[in-house]
Amino acid sequence: MSNNNALNDILVGATAAYNQHPQVATAAVKRTLTHSRPLTSSDIDSLTVLEFAAQDILLKYHAAMRQMETRLETLDQDLKLRQSRNPIHHIESRMKSVPSIFEKLGRYGKSQTLDSMERYIMDIAGLRVIVSYVQDVYDILHYLEHQDDLEVVTVKDYITNPKPNGYRSLHMIVKIPVYFLSGRQHVPVEIQIRTIAMDFWASLEHDLKYKAVRETSGLNVGEELKQCSNIIKEAEDRMQVLARALEQNAPADKHEVNAARQIDLSEQLR
Ligand code: GTP
Ligand code: MG
Repeated sequence: MSNNNALNDILVGATAAYNQHPQVATAAVKRTLTHSRPLTSSDIDSLTVLEFAAQDILLKYHAAMRQMETRLETLDQDLKLRQSRNPIHHIESRMKSVPSIFEKLGRYGKSQTLDSMERYIMDIAGLRVIVSYVQDVYDILHYLEHQDDLEVVTVKDYITNPKPNGYRSLHMIVKIPVYFLSGRQHVPVEIQIRTIAMDFWASLEHDLKYKAVRETSGLNVGEELKQCSNIIKEAEDRMQVLARALEQNAPADKHEVNAARQIDLSEQLR
């Protein structure tokens, strides 16, 4: 068995989902995989059943994620055609693994069943949309809110209200209709929309968080990161003003520039 980790994930998740006892399932699966004996034909049958179960669980989320990604790409192409600009820099997508879905249910004190997975875990399918300017974030929010077959379940605006650590991003849960043999279902997808600058901060913060350095030789890592977030915000606001002025082919509004820039620029703009 060359790919024990991937197989292990499928087995743990699928078994857990179907018999609703993940801890027992984990132990049983690990025991099976640490034996180096050849698999019997009944083992192979079990693997086939388990693989099908995992695919069955994730299929609809995966379909919803791809369809949502296509919608965003269409929006971007339409804007390019009509306004000669691409607000979307790139899109990343990811599926939550089955074990981490069940781990999250446990962490939230919910029963670890298929039913509560569908009810409580809204980020099984996730898209991250990286845009150029802050205004692009809100434009995309606006366009999605006006697609009438989409149901916007939640919007969390961490740009207007950043998290205390300095994290900025806009998070939405959107339900998109997907057609299956059994009919139509509205499947949730988590969409995180953020600028290149916000993404830069979040990626490095994520990385540093896992290094678990809080205080290193007098350096307050949390405070330092928060200040970096503020600097990034200011730079971004200034570039937004420039972009707007260039787009309209008009001189930048002095007051707007000065509001974005904390030092006085009026000399230069006179
Ligand atoms: P979860 O249980 O994590 O889903 O919490 P939640 O449902 O309250 O969602 P929240 O709005 O906090 O956002 C969750 C996701 O946003 C995470 O999985 C990260 O991708 C991202 N995120 C939220 N806060 C931070 C942060 O402080 N730093 C970084 N780098 N990413 C964050
Ligand atoms: Mg979440």
